[in-house]
Amino acid sequence: MGEKRKIVVTSALPYANGDIHIGHLVEYIQTDFWVRFQKMRGNECVYVCADDTHGTPIMIRARKEGITPEELIARSHAEHLKDFTDFQIKFDNYYTTNSPENKELSEQIYKAAEAKGYITRKTTPQLYCEKCKMFLPDRFVKGVCPKCGAPDQYGDSCDKCGATYGAEELGSPKCTTCGATPVVKDSEHLYWELEPQHDYLEKWIPDHTTSDVSNKLLEWFKEPLRGWCISRDAPYFGFEIPGCKDKYFYVWVDAPVGYIASLKNAGKFEMWNDPNVELYHFIGKDIIRFHCLFWPGMLNSAGFKGPTKVFVHGFLTVNGEKMSKSKGTFVSARTYLDNLPPEALRYYYAAKLGGTTDDIDLNLADFVQRVNSDLVGKITNIASRGGQMLQKKLGGRLGTMDEEGRALVEKCVAAGETIARHFEDRRFNQAVVEICRLADAANEYFDKREPWKTVKTDEETTRTTLTAALNAFRIIAIYLKPVLPAYADKAMKLFGECEWTWASAGEPKENCALGEYEYLASRVDMKQVEAMVEAAKVKPGESGEVSHESRASKNKREEKEVSGEVAPLKSEIAFPDFEKLDLRIGVVESCETVPKSSKLLKFVLDAGSLGKRTIFSGIRQAYPEPDKLVGKEVVFVANLAPRKMSVGVSEGMILFAGEPGVNGGVLSPSSDAGAGVAAT
Ligand code: 2FM
Ligand code: ZN
Repeated sequence: MGEKRKIVVTSALPYANGDIHIGHLVEYIQTDFWVRFQKMRGNECVYVCADDTHGTPIMIRARKEGITPEELIARSHAEHLKDFTDFQIKFDNYYTTNSPENKELSEQIYKAAEAKGYITRKTTPQLYCEKCKMFLPDRFVKGVCPKCGAPDQYGDSCDKCGATYGAEELGSPKCTTCGATPVVKDSEHLYWELEPQHDYLEKWIPDHTTSDVSNKLLEWFKEPLRGWCISRDAPYFGFEIPGCKDKYFYVWVDAPVGYIASLKNAGKFEMWNDPNVELYHFIGKDIIRFHCLFWPGMLNSAGFKGPTKVFVHGFLTVNGEKMSKSKGTFVSARTYLDNLPPEALRYYYAAKLGGTTDDIDLNLADFVQRVNSDLVGKITNIASRGGQMLQKKLGGRLGTMDEEGRALVEKCVAAGETIARHFEDRRFNQAVVEICRLADAANEYFDKREPWKTVKTDEETTRTTLTAALNAFRIIAIYLKPVLPAYADKAMKLFGECEWTWASAGEPKENCALGEYEYLASRVDMKQVEAMVEAAKVKPGESGEVSHESRASKNKREEKEVSGEVAPLKSEIAFPDFEKLDLRIGVVESCETVPKSSKLLKFVLDAGSLGKRTIFSGIRQAYPEPDKLVGKEVVFVANLAPRKMSVGVSEGMILFAGEPGVNGGVLSPSSDAGAGVAAT
């Protein structure tokens, strides 16, 4: 083995306002595999994490429970840590983002960016609840969808028609906390500009992420990078921005700084910027932009080292579908543990995780089958059959291996470096395949030598057989230690040892006593799984809480909130639906912004025989200079029923393709090849 490496590893910080669930565990469990593996290889590896404690949802939840945010986050911290510990996830430090270290570091990084001129200010209109005395984030206001008229829709998008819009466009908006009608009020916000770091980030990304991740991110670099909004108005549970009274850092500013703060709290701060230390973030694919764009930008602004690599994994599906509260597949860590052993999930996740951004599926029937047939039937069986026989019939002493037995053990030792490579590259599934192959070989050897028969006639031959089988098991258990640490510890005691490193695999045990055989792993039953699913089921009427929005969709929405995002493809429509549209051409007579709306443009079209049409269109982001559209021919839906909006009546819909502000534009028939996307 080469020189001892120094490594810092993180998992994404879980929000303090929700329980840890089996989806989260995909990340923490795999990070734990990797960290434990590095430690077994003799590397210095520090695994830090923390609760992500700031933001409006935490403040609101505490308010609802009648406690302070500090009380809420203290409770979550204890619960989260207990869940992780019971799943055998071992952090070197599990801290909180609501800490003095984090405040100081966040301010330091922000001030450095400010000094470089990266922080700008813009005023935007926002809904404000005078009763709650706060600006309302999109998810804290509901009203009538401006596109389809569906009632009871959130301030960012409509569940019924899929439209996305600004909260100020909602009809009859209501504050979800108190029910009052909010007013539109201007608020100044701080933006962290990224364009000054365009070249730096464009070069950084491909070197520190995998190609699928970097290809996606680099798409954004074809145009100037947009800054992201880093401020939130009071009241907000977080850190006040230095020099900006009543403005707080948006939670995504101080959350990643929480990695450094946790390291600092562990007394290892100097590791962060040490050029000899490798630094890895494990994250889900929903938070790529925060970690691979904003975060390296932040770190670089302040002269901090960025991560060596960001390891991105996919989401968890259960039985091929998104986790669902009503189906009982949105299972909290605690509900799982109340019904099933942690080893089973750790083993199953290892068998599925391949180090890519692909989603993994927890198929519950396959889970039961695989744990029982491989972990219990194939692997543990070698120890339980061999160990018990040696104890009961042969005085519990290992003997010397013969040639055949030694060949088996050597095969197991020889596989060590291949398995190590799989662990290093996070192909845990391949590591499990190799380990199972070794278990197959050990079982074959055991069955061929028939010790249950020879024990009746030839004790020493039987001892020779069992010594090799048990040594093969010992090596397998060593290789499994990153995945099943408690299991490996019990196995280690069986051999009377007190520490296993990766190198221990090459040191077979002969002519020594075997410890008492302790139960290593038990079979799981479909009944336990069914009980877990039943316990996880949210009955109708129980699921209305804000915190039930999934982490993935929340992060998607938040990304959109800070920098604009691609809208998902809407569901298919039938041809007769399409035929109902009467598309006409109009010439833009005037086009102007709408006071107090960040999204809307007001068009007046000259529609020939149809006369003039006034149309409000939510595409302001795409046209910073709207009067440049004057004189342009556009396509519009002429037979759409007029819609009454707070700013006036809209008499049609202008066709627009793509994403406003990114690659979108109005459809204009005047370009060369007939209809096309206008480039303005
Ligand atoms: O997505 C989430 O759950 C966030 N709490 C992750 C934060 S990771 C880091 F940046 F702090
Ligand atoms: Zn209110």
